[in-house]
Amino acid sequence: MPSHNPHTKAHILAIETSCDETAISALFGMEIKSHHIHSQASLHAEYGGVFPNLAKREHGKNIIPLLSLVFHDTCDSPIYAPSSNNLISHTLQADESAYTIPSYIHQDKAEYIKTILHREPQALHDLFAYLNILSEDQFNIIKTTFTAIAVTYGPGLEPALWVGISVAKALAALFDLPLYPINHMEGHIASVLTTPEATSNIHTDTVPHINFPAIALLISGGHTEIIELTNWHAYILLGKTVDDAVGEAYDKVARLIGLPYPGGPAISRLAASYRQKQELNIDRKVCEADKPFILPRPMLHTKDFNFSFSGLKTAVLYAVKKKYEELGSQELDQYHKEALASEFEDAVTEVLLHKTKRAIEETGAKHLVIGGGVIANTYIRSSMTKLCQSLDIALSIPEFELTTDNASMIGLVACLQIQNGKDGLHSGTAAFEDLKADGNLSL
Ligand code: KG4
Ligand code: ZN
Repeated sequence: MPSHNPHTKAHILAIETSCDETAISALFGMEIKSHHIHSQASLHAEYGGVFPNLAKREHGKNIIPLLSLVFHDTCDSPIYAPSSNNLISHTLQADESAYTIPSYIHQDKAEYIKTILHREPQALHDLFAYLNILSEDQFNIIKTTFTAIAVTYGPGLEPALWVGISVAKALAALFDLPLYPINHMEGHIASVLTTPEATSNIHTDTVPHINFPAIALLISGGHTEIIELTNWHAYILLGKTVDDAVGEAYDKVARLIGLPYPGGPAISRLAASYRQKQELNIDRKVCEADKPFILPRPMLHTKDFNFSFSGLKTAVLYAVKKKYEELGSQELDQYHKEALASEFEDAVTEVLLHKTKRAIEETGAKHLVIGGGVIANTYIRSSMTKLCQSLDIALSIPEFELTTDNASMIGLVACLQIQNGKDGLHSGTAAFEDLKADGNLSL
C-alpha cells in the first residue's frame, strides 16, 4: 500500500518508552523539530533501579500530554497543549465525554483504536479527551503534518515498551500512516547523526558523516556492547557484557555508598573532584601503591570483546566493608568516597578503552561512534577522544541532550530506513497486528 506523502522529506513522529523516559519527537528529515522527554528517574530512585510496572504506569500517564506538546510545537497552527511544567499533575478531564467519538472520526476507526489501546486505559482516555478538544481542522493539520510514525519495540522493559507501541499503533491507525518499529540500540548509534543546530531547530540538511567500517560502543544503564558497522543497518555484534551493564555498575556502586539513582553523574562528580585535588596536591597526595582502593579490571586481557561489571561491583562491596573496619565507621568520609569513585571510574574506563582500541585495530575501523547514557561521563569522553586522536580516526559522540534515552534518535533511524526505501507497517495488515515488544531484541 503506498503511503500518502505530500512532503519531500519524511515527517516523522517518534515515540520511545523502553525504560524510564517517556519521549516523543518530531523530525522533518534529519532535522529535529520538537524533542520532549519526561524522566521518571526520581520516582524509581527509592528502588535503586527501574521498576517495570511503575514505568508502565507513568508512561501511560504522561504519553498523551507529551504528544500534545509535540503537536503544538510542530504543526502550523496553535494546537492545544498542557504546560510542560505542569505535565505530571496535568490530567485531561476524566469524564464520560472523554469517550465520545468526535464527529470527524469514523465509528469503526474509533473502535479499532479502542481495541489497540485496551491495555492502556489511561492513554486511551487521554487520547479521546484530547481528540475531543481538537477541532476537525486542527486534527487534519496534525494528520497532514506527518508522513510516518516510529516507535521503539525493543530491547527494554516489555511493560514499558508496550505503552509506546500501543500508542504508536493507535496513532498510525488514526492518521493512516505507516509505522516503523525501531531497535533502541540502533537509535543510540544514530543519535550521532545530528548537529547542535539541528536540535536548536535551525534548518540543516547536512548529515554528519560516518566513515565505514566503524565501531560503535554503546554504554548505558541496560547495555554495554561493541558493534562493528560495515554500513548503516549492517551490524556485527563483536562483544557485550556477560552480566551487568556499565551504567548499572555505576548505579549499584552509587547505591552502595548512599548516593541516589541514577548514580552515574554523582560517582563521576566525586571522581572528578578526587582527580582535581590530586593534580593540585590538595588532600593527601598518594602514590599508586598507597591508593586507598585498588579494584580489578575485569576481563581486560580476555581475547574476546566481552565485558563483566558484576565482579567489579562485588569487589567494591568488599573493599568498602574492609575500609569500614579500618576506619571504625559504617560510612565512608568524603575523601574515601572520592577515592573509591575515582578508582572505580579508572577501572571501568581502562577496560572500555582497551577493548574498544582492540576492536578498532582488528577491524580497521575509521570511525568510532559512542552512544548511551554513560557517554555523558566527561572522563570517559575525554579518554575516548584521546584514544581516537592517537589512532588518528574520527570520533562521533551525540550532543549531551541525545546521550540519554530520547525519541529523536528513534526518528533518525526511521528517517535512514525511509531514505533507504523501506516501507513501514500499515494498520489492518497482519504484520501491523503482530508487532510486539521484544525486551531482548538484539542488533
Ligand atoms: O541510555 P540511558 O539514559 O538509559 C538506558 O538505556 O539505560 O543510560 C542511563 C545510564 C544510567 O545507568 C546512569 O547512571 C548512566 O547512564 N549515566 C552515567 C552518567 N550519566 C548517566 N554514568 C556515568 N557517568 C555519567 N556522567
Ligand atoms: Zn538507552
